Amino acid sequence: MKILGVVGSNRKHGNTSGLVKAALQAAEKENADTALVFLGDYSIQDCVGCEGCKDTMRCVIKDDMQKLYPLLLEADGIILGSPTYFYNITATMKAFIDRCYCFEAFARDDRASWVGLHEALGIKYAVVIAVCEQHDEADMGFTAEAMIKPLEALGYRIISTIKAIGYFKAGEALQDERAVENARNAGKKLARTISLRKEVERKMQEII
Ligand SMILES: Cc1cc2nc3c(=O)[nH]c(=O)nc-3n(C[C@H](O)[C@H](O)[C@H](O)COP(=O)(O)O)c2cc1C
Repeated sequence: MKILGVVGSNRKHGNTSGLVKAALQAAEKENADTALVFLGDYSIQDCVGCEGCKDTMRCVIKDDMQKLYPLLLEADGIILGSPTYFYNITATMKAFIDRCYCFEAFARDDRASWVGLHEALGIKYAVVIAVCEQHDEADMGFTAEAMIKPLEALGYRIISTIKAIGYFKAGEALQDERAVENARNAGKKLARTISLRKEVERKMQEII
């Protein structure tokens, strides 16, 4: 079982990073192989809307996103984490998500009919972690939803959504045992869901 953590903050020792790591560590205890990606380490151009991926489901832009596509395809589950930047995800996270557009397929003569790659290949599972400074959830704006909606469109079921509210200084969220525990529980639940899915697949192969 493989789980990929993706951090959309450039603060490597920040709140998002800390909570994504806590979730991954809990998943490891449930026998997951994990990998952690800091999007800031990768050069990811914006999607240019060229539709070059339309027939191939491959993005034509040759940049570091090409290193991340195989990781996404291999992973049974994903943990996306972003701090709130002006009520939304960071620009890096948005670029990363937009570049997953190649994993959407639209009917040639009817763009209202479409499927996400993982809907077609077998759904995958995701955890979303959003972190903001203010103490009112309204000040987080669309951060969580900006990750949830695209993940769902791509064919992921969201196992847990964590809205970690009221953390400003880098790493502050890790001082809050409740926030860390929430992240750990999300990672554990993600790994357990994937294990169960694999168990059911094995059982069904014996039956049919
Ligand atoms: C450009 C920028 C915009 C921000 N916008 C918001 C905001 O709209 N609402 C909020 O509550 N916090 C906002 N913050 C604060 C961060 O979300 C907060 O400090 C968070 O803990 C940073 O996470 P990190 O440590 O993972 O980078 C903003 C911070 C920056 C740098």
